[in-house]
Amino acid sequence: MLFVLLIGLLLCTGHPVSSFCPVEIRPTIAVVRYGDPFSANCSSLSNQTEGMGWEAATGGTPLTHGISVIPLNIDSVSVWTLTAQCFINQIDGEQCSKILPFKVYKTPDSVSVSQNGPQVPIKSGQGYEMRCDIVNVAPVANIVVHWYHENNLISTVKNVESQGIAPVNKSVVLPLNASNLDNGTQIWCEVELDLEPKVPDLPRIRSMAHEVIVLYPPDFREPGNETVEIRAGGMTSLNCTATGNPRPGYRWQLLNHIQETNMIQTERQPILIASVSGTYACTVSNTQGTARKYFTVTQAKRERTTFAALVGGFVTLGALLFVGGLFFMTPEGTFAFGKGQPTSSKPV
Ligand SMILES: *[C@@H]1O[C@H](CO)[C@@H](O)[C@H](O)[C@H]1NC(C)=O
Ligand SMILES: *[C@@H]1O[C@H](CO)[C@@H](O)[C@H](O)[C@H]1NC(C)=O
Ligand SMILES: *[C@@H]1O[C@H](CO)[C@@H](O)[C@H](O)[C@H]1NC(C)=O
Ligand SMILES: *[C@@H]1O[C@H](CO)[C@@H](O)[C@H](O)[C@H]1NC(C)=O
Repeated sequence: MLFVLLIGLLLCTGHPVSSFCPVEIRPTIAVVRYGDPFSANCSSLSNQTEGMGWEAATGGTPLTHGISVIPLNIDSVSVWTLTAQCFINQIDGEQCSKILPFKVYKTPDSVSVSQNGPQVPIKSGQGYEMRCDIVNVAPVANIVVHWYHENNLISTVKNVESQGIAPVNKSVVLPLNASNLDNGTQIWCEVELDLEPKVPDLPRIRSMAHEVIVLYPPDFREPGNETVEIRAGGMTSLNCTATGNPRPGYRWQLLNHIQETNMIQTERQPILIASVSGTYACTVSNTQGTARKYFTVTQAKRERTTFAALVGGFVTLGALLFVGGLFFMTPEGTFAFGKGQPTSSKPV
């Protein structure tokens, strides 16, 4: 032990600031919020201590004799590039010191989110960027940006390429692709300071939510053409509902009736009540495009056949019952007759 200390002292001779200086500082690193008070202790590991002190840009503790622990108390840390060193004077006249590094932090004043081009609102299928603007944060290298889309964490950006000890403004972008389903959904960012060692209960600063508006052409709920059958005198409803932004308009046409190739002027709704067979074209359009689907409405021709089959069925059943009746009647009659016979023969 003494040997190690002697080597330490020998090394200290040539280098006043040395890692072999026989002092221990608690905590070993100062992680402190700008403006907060801070205190640390420096303890001597040597029994040859003559005096100790702290040197710091703000505050400090003057050289004090005959002690083995000396505190550093700073009322308010108001310097971004702060360092402090604990120095020790040995009885033999040697002096050495150890540095206490500082990491002064500040959570952002505000965090806001906005949408970058190419244009707003965005069109479906295009790429765009969300931007998270962080105001007055330090140290910027320690920020972690979390992106949320409708309460789901979609991205975490760590190790933002930035340097600087004093507070800066920083923008972080998230590239995205616009889809139909994103219309009307919300995106926001949340900024965390990831310090080492961890600072408990450090608040995350969250931006307001940004509503994404996506322009997209009509998109049918039920894609593909449809075929519907109606009974004579009956009717059916044809559902052509489509989504789209802006809200799409509807136009119905009955196509294959020679005199009725005209548009059905009255129907501008997504649902059409059809009572005439034919091919109906439903055209849906908005500023982003046009989509069309066809409904083929046919009369159920089988109806007559079904009736005939039913009548035929009844006739057949009737005939069967008739034949069966004869078949069963005969034995029954015979049985009744036979039954009567023994009865009448009994008195004999
Ligand atoms: C410094 O030492 C004093 C006395 O032992 C103790 O009360 C105080 O909590 C210590 N401070 C730190 C920052 O360790
Ligand atoms: C950061 O942004 C705020 C608000 O926009 C502005 O007042 C301030 O001057 C900016 N600071 C720097 C260092 O650019
Ligand atoms: C798209 O979002 C806007 C804004 O929330 C909303 O008014 C509109 O109805 C949405 N369109 C569709 C088709 O969801
Ligand atoms: C619907 O019918 C039209 C006209 O017959 C045809 O051009 C189109 O490809 C069909 N669409 C689908 C999805 O089958």
